[in-house]
Amino acid sequence: MARPRSATPRRYLMCPPAHFTVRYSLNPWMDPAKPVDTPLAQAQWEQLREVYRSLGHTVAELAPVPGLPDMVFTANGATVADGRVFGARFAHPEREPEAQAHLEWFAAHGYGHLHLPVHINEGEGDLAVTDSLLLAGRGFRTNPLAHGEAQEFFGRPVIGLELVDPRFYHLDLALAVLDDAAGEVAYYPPAFSPGSREVLRRLFPHALVAAEEDALAFGLNAVSDGLHVVLPQAAAGLFGPLRERGFEPVGVDVSELHRGGGSVKCCSLELRG
Ligand code: ARG
Repeated sequence: MARPRSATPRRYLMCPPAHFTVRYSLNPWMDPAKPVDTPLAQAQWEQLREVYRSLGHTVAELAPVPGLPDMVFTANGATVADGRVFGARFAHPEREPEAQAHLEWFAAHGYGHLHLPVHINEGEGDLAVTDSLLLAGRGFRTNPLAHGEAQEFFGRPVIGLELVDPRFYHLDLALAVLDDAAGEVAYYPPAFSPGSREVLRRLFPHALVAAEEDALAFGLNAVSDGLHVVLPQAAAGLFGPLRERGFEPVGVDVSELHRGGGSVKCCSLELRG
């Protein structure tokens, strides 16, 4: 039985893919030998921004920096909740300068509570926020010690989750928060260690469990406002189960950005509070 759903207006920080390309490989999706169509990526990104605006959300923009091709993936640059900003620290030197660009943006936009991270964490790539919890990925990028650091900063209990499949190197590729108030999620169990799968099963017994083909289509790299779930349209198998739960799936095509190993959620850093 579908429960009643309601959307709340959101704010997202996005960065146009003006300098997006694949010239190094940080994950199995990135192949520097395959050319990237940057104007196509830009057009798809603009459509995603338009979808957010048409749903009543606000999009703030981070200026793209030449030489930082992954900057379009703003979700990795920080984690924001209750107006407090937990800065990122990237695992790879190629992306390191992005963290500073984010911190400068937040400082210039009136965010007073800025945390300079001690341990490596790749922002919302590995930290999923609900009203009562932080779900935190580890195994590929984010240092497990960053989990405790985030718990202390946000005052929300952290549930650490071990990622085991390199195709799902960030938590936001394997798990999506569908309702942050009620704490409802969708996830792909094989992306997690056996113990973490068991943790997810206990915490979210009614979760939407994604099939491999939908997870591989970046279907869990989704953004929800509590009602609308914006996700890659190719993840067709998720649409029915989302509707059954009372959500409205909104399919988009950001396939050119998939060449970098990211999709809808990776391009959208939620500015909570
Ligand atoms: N090329 C980027 C990397 O490997 C993609 C990041 C995708 N972002 C995300 N939130 N999963 O770091």
